[in-house]
Amino acid sequence: MLTGKAYADDRHIRSRMSIYAYAEKPVSLGWRTSMIPWDGTQIVADVGCVNGFDLRQIVPQGRCRHAIGLDLSAGMLRSLADLLPGGRLSLVQADAQRLPLPEDCVDVAMAMHMLYHVPDVAAAIGELRRITSPGGTVLASTNSPAHLAEIADLVDGAISRQLGGGGGSRRTDSFTTLTGTDLLSQEFASVTLTTLDVPLSIPSAEPVITYVGSLREPTLALVRVPLDFDAVLDDIAMNVEQVIQAEGSFRATTHMGVFICR
Ligand SMILES: C[S@@+](CC[C@H](N)C(=O)[O-])C[C@H]1O[C@@H](n2cnc3c(N)ncnc32)[C@H](O)[C@@H]1O
Repeated sequence: MLTGKAYADDRHIRSRMSIYAYAEKPVSLGWRTSMIPWDGTQIVADVGCVNGFDLRQIVPQGRCRHAIGLDLSAGMLRSLADLLPGGRLSLVQADAQRLPLPEDCVDVAMAMHMLYHVPDVAAAIGELRRITSPGGTVLASTNSPAHLAEIADLVDGAISRQLGGGGGSRRTDSFTTLTGTDLLSQEFASVTLTTLDVPLSIPSAEPVITYVGSLREPTLALVRVPLDFDAVLDDIAMNVEQVIQAEGSFRATTHMGVFICR
């Protein structure tokens, strides 16, 4: 489901990211990578690098010596091809639970918004520790359980109505800003969390539908019973439009954090 549907290419993730166009204040694209004092000498591995969201903040600018982008999805790695000609990037299709890299080979390992996808989170954290040299840093970002709760509540309500009251919760807390410290502390002596909340003010239902629509396959996989997803989207659109008519916009807040581990 991850490599064949949700992350077969970067279409869905780009749809989700587009919701940040409605941030009430501009957000720096480099807020997560700014946790590292880049000096052009570091070797960095970005595990679950998607379409290079973070690598684009450091590779073209020469802020690291070399970067290794790793992802389970070959389709995703293809979307980084434009970064290869500079010679500072290698791309490897790999599973975070078994990284094909030697011990202590990077100065910085990043696992941004991806550990919640990994079946054995402890194994992936062990791999991040193993490949990072003593004195190096691991950055691991994720969402808070409150992330876009305003949209998650609409989705839960719409699914419940479609299923006649059933559906249960689809949320997972395998690696969140709440659970991350305990998990990372199994491998790292120092774990600190920096959080970022971004209020959004959305003027129409369309961006919300684009966001939820990009999660069609993972949502259907979690619900596990036949579900008319288009009817779910229609239900959400109606509710968002009602809020906009009453309040002028639909407001929601993203809640994220990045763990800095040494
Ligand atoms: C939500 S995306 C985001 C990643 C990106 N680092 C970011 O923060 O924008 C998650 C990525 O992790 C990848 N992924 C999921 N499970 C993985 C695994 N076990 N090993 C490596 N990559 C994985 C997916 O293919 C996808 O590209």
